[in-house]
Amino acid sequence: MTLDELAIQIRKCTLCELAQGRTHAVPGEGNPQAEIMFIGEGPGANEDKQGIPFCGASGKFLDELLKSINLNRSDVFITNVVKCRPPENRDPLPQEIDICTKHYLFNQIEVINPKIICFLGRYSMGLFMKDMKISQVHGKAFRRKDGRYYIAFYHPAVALYNGSMRQVLLNDFKVLDKILKGKIKDDEKETPPKSDDTPLEMVSLF
Ligand code: URA
Repeated sequence: MTLDELAIQIRKCTLCELAQGRTHAVPGEGNPQAEIMFIGEGPGANEDKQGIPFCGASGKFLDELLKSINLNRSDVFITNVVKCRPPENRDPLPQEIDICTKHYLFNQIEVINPKIICFLGRYSMGLFMKDMKISQVHGKAFRRKDGRYYIAFYHPAVALYNGSMRQVLLNDFKVLDKILKGKIKDDEKETPPKSDDTPLEMVSLF
């Protein structure tokens, strides 16, 4: 399965009720060979209209964050936990997350095989870093047995209504630059608590 084939399936998906309210499904965009993959929560109103992830105000700030470490969208891959906008931007339901991740997100990760997976906000973090608090782990690189780095960031939208979070996010993004430049040494890598140090397929969703 290629990323394009997955995107075709996502655009015509009717596996859950979110399909009924959407204008466009949003498979994700970016470099299919990206070393860094960003996972947000789900499309908002702008993304639903355009079919492009993070194309509204929080996306503008995400672009700024990328620029701060000399990257742009074509260097990374950006997607979401669920590919269709939940009505009124409500939280996606556990079964919607379950269906969408099993059919699409986990396959996208497998195809791209990124070196670093970045969570934008606590919902996507909850998929892989269960029982962790974003306030405690944001901006810290965890390395799992699969050899990948996992890093949770606050969702860029928080900086839109809380100005001091802009600097927190800008600081946290520096960890990506360090990893890409090989500046993080083994002893600086954080190990998740034992309870969460399970193989990925054993990490339950929510
Ligand atoms: N917020 C998200 O989590 N994802 C988007 O694509 C846009 C806003």
